[in-house]
Amino acid sequence: MLEIQGVSLETDGDNRVEILKNINLKFYDKKIYVVTGPNGGGKSSLAKIIMGVYNTTKGKILLDGQDITTMNITERARLGIGYAFQSPPRFKGIKVKDLLKMAASYNPEKVNICDLLYDVGLCAQDYLNRDVDTSLSGGEMKRIEIATVLARNLKLAVFDEPEAGIDLWSFQKLAETFKNIHMKYDTTIVIISHQERIMELADEIILMSNGTISAQSERDIILAGILNTDACACSTKCEKGVGQNVECIG
Ligand SMILES: Nc1ncnc2c1ncn2[C@@H]1O[C@H](COP(=O)(O)OP(=O)(O)OP(=O)(O)O)[C@@H](O)[C@H]1O
Ligand SMILES: [Mg+2]
Repeated sequence: MLEIQGVSLETDGDNRVEILKNINLKFYDKKIYVVTGPNGGGKSSLAKIIMGVYNTTKGKILLDGQDITTMNITERARLGIGYAFQSPPRFKGIKVKDLLKMAASYNPEKVNICDLLYDVGLCAQDYLNRDVDTSLSGGEMKRIEIATVLARNLKLAVFDEPEAGIDLWSFQKLAETFKNIHMKYDTTIVIISHQERIMELADEIILMSNGTISAQSERDIILAGILNTDACACSTKCEKGVGQNVECIG
């Protein structure tokens, strides 16, 4: 189980902004959680404090009771935490097969990297020898990144908007893949998503807005609520084309 206890995250510098505000969450083994909410609500920041990309300003993170708050990304990866970024990084000079083999080397079980590509809807013969650079399309890169996380029999896997840029046909395949991992392994799956189709996979849905958890409940209870909520944070229009002392009209 991963526990997030009273976690806050502030930006550095003079104009400090509180991105996450006193977050308390428990992610139990073998469950699927979908985190959703308006843009800028803090979902990716939450994923990054779980992975250790950002360090918390306040609070604690515990994995199976072990305090991992001060651990870096590599230490957390060794403990079985993985994160598929919203915008995956590209690596010049590395081939898809090398990236997948590297990820699979963390897995005590034998992994068939061709099957992994199939699971994310890519043909192995077309992609194994491709470079993981800008020549890959956005959707191809996204799927390869997801395959690297799937390669690693993880304790907790976080997927940040796996649907982003992925076509309708591959999206269906991806949803089935999440279902299969859920059935086969004890992995806790956290999916950040705006898609109802992905939310339908969830045991629980967590709604984040303005750096806080605004709701958390079983899927069906929260889905109905989300669809009836006006999530826009901006309640009034700027007056006379001027907002917060900034000229709106150039
Ligand atoms: N390193 C940073 N420095 C300054 N502000 C940041 C930083 N990282 C995130 N933010 C701000 O924190 C807020 C939350 O960002 P985050 O990326 O977590 O949102 P999100 O919920 O993932 O949004 P989206 O749905 O658009 O992906 C945003 O207002 C963002 O601009
Ligand atoms: Mg995000």
